[in-house]
Amino acid sequence: MFTGKGGVGKTTTAAATAALAASRGVKALVLSTDPAHSLADALGVPLTGEPGEVDAGLYAMQVDTQAAFERSWHDVQAYLRGLLARAGVDALQAEELIVLPGADEVLALLELRAQVESGRFDLVVVDCAPTGETLRLLALPEVLAWYVEKVFPAHRRALRAMRPLLGRADPTLPPDGVLGAVERLHRELADVRALLTSAATSVRVVLTPEAVVVAEARRTLTSLALYGYRVDGLVANRVFPDSDEPFLRGWVAAQAAQLEAVRADAGGLPVLLSAYRASEPVGVPALVEFGGQLYGDADPAADAGPAPDLLDVQADGDGFVLSLALPLARRQDLGLTRTGDELVVTVGGHRRVLALPSLLRRCTVAGAALTGERLRVRFVPDPAQWPDALLGNGALSGRAARLASW
Ligand SMILES: Nc1ncnc2c1ncn2[C@@H]1O[C@H](COP(=O)(O)OP(=O)(O)OP(=O)(O)O)[C@@H](O)[C@H]1O
Ligand SMILES: [Mg+2]
Repeated sequence: MFTGKGGVGKTTTAAATAALAASRGVKALVLSTDPAHSLADALGVPLTGEPGEVDAGLYAMQVDTQAAFERSWHDVQAYLRGLLARAGVDALQAEELIVLPGADEVLALLELRAQVESGRFDLVVVDCAPTGETLRLLALPEVLAWYVEKVFPAHRRALRAMRPLLGRADPTLPPDGVLGAVERLHRELADVRALLTSAATSVRVVLTPEAVVVAEARRTLTSLALYGYRVDGLVANRVFPDSDEPFLRGWVAAQAAQLEAVRADAGGLPVLLSAYRASEPVGVPALVEFGGQLYGDADPAADAGPAPDLLDVQADGDGFVLSLALPLARRQDLGLTRTGDELVVTVGGHRRVLALPSLLRRCTVAGAALTGERLRVRFVPDPAQWPDALLGNGALSGRAARLASW
């Protein structure tokens, strides 16, 4: 998945990655979740909502969220349409109301999963919308799952209990098709999240070596880790070539300083460089050349290696430490709240709700610290909720080991 600030070259880099891989015999699909149709412009061919072969082994598609929406939300929409009509809302207004906000983004993710699971491609490259939207998109599966888990079971139980009393004909009750659609969505979102956080998936952050862009890229690295996504490299695009011309000389020096900062922030991640071209890299041959210069002999589709422990829990003395990787996070931007069974971590404007495993639910938070690019939260057993026999003398460590996969 390629993300980054607006206009830095995400679409170009994503298309170039797929084009280079395809030119080396990898069957590649590049898929755009960005409603702006720039992928078609970069490839220089029209695209549809289905994978189309652009060149030998190179496929591309523009997710058609409208069509996908109608396919998977037909039942829900029909129900809402009927409900609104009975409430006296006119048909035209009802059509606008039933376009659920954020639904197109979810469908882009479901479409991505469908393409990956089709098994047709060796590599699927995603050209994402600019960072803000991408982060919202990547946070969605967990956020929606949270809502569905919290709101839906109670609602469904109430409905099941009420239905025999109200009779099946009551048109204000959602029919089984609607309940089924919500349950299916919940399952599918869990699959999407599993796919996006699996060892086979990684994110590459595209930037240009300019102070404002680099600052956003730093925040992106923190936010991606917060949501549990793994970054396997950075792409610095539009790097000016050395020059004696005074205007360019100024830019070259400024970019060199920014690139140094990027390398320091990258913490060992590769930083690939791409030169500023004399013309826009448009069309497959130009994109293959762009990819070749970016990756050299390296494999553009290389696996990122074993997934790092972005989130883990370890036994520690008489309690546990939950630790969450938050590279480049600053203490003053961090927020932490415990509400019952959940731990809410906020960084800048981003927020993740972690459902605590049962072991930690029966503990109290004894403190938190940001050290070594990780947020560490210390939990100690709440004596009221633990049998005496389990407290003290290291009896907790075996339990923490079982949490390793959480
Ligand atoms: N290295 C480069 N040299 C010259 N032109 C480039 C380079 N990289 C990208 N461009 C051009 O810059 C423009 C923006 O690139 P691109 O569309 O890939 O950016 P983007 O990050 O996807 O933008 P958006 O945020 O709008 O999706 C395009 O016209 C593209 O051809
Ligand atoms: Mg783009």
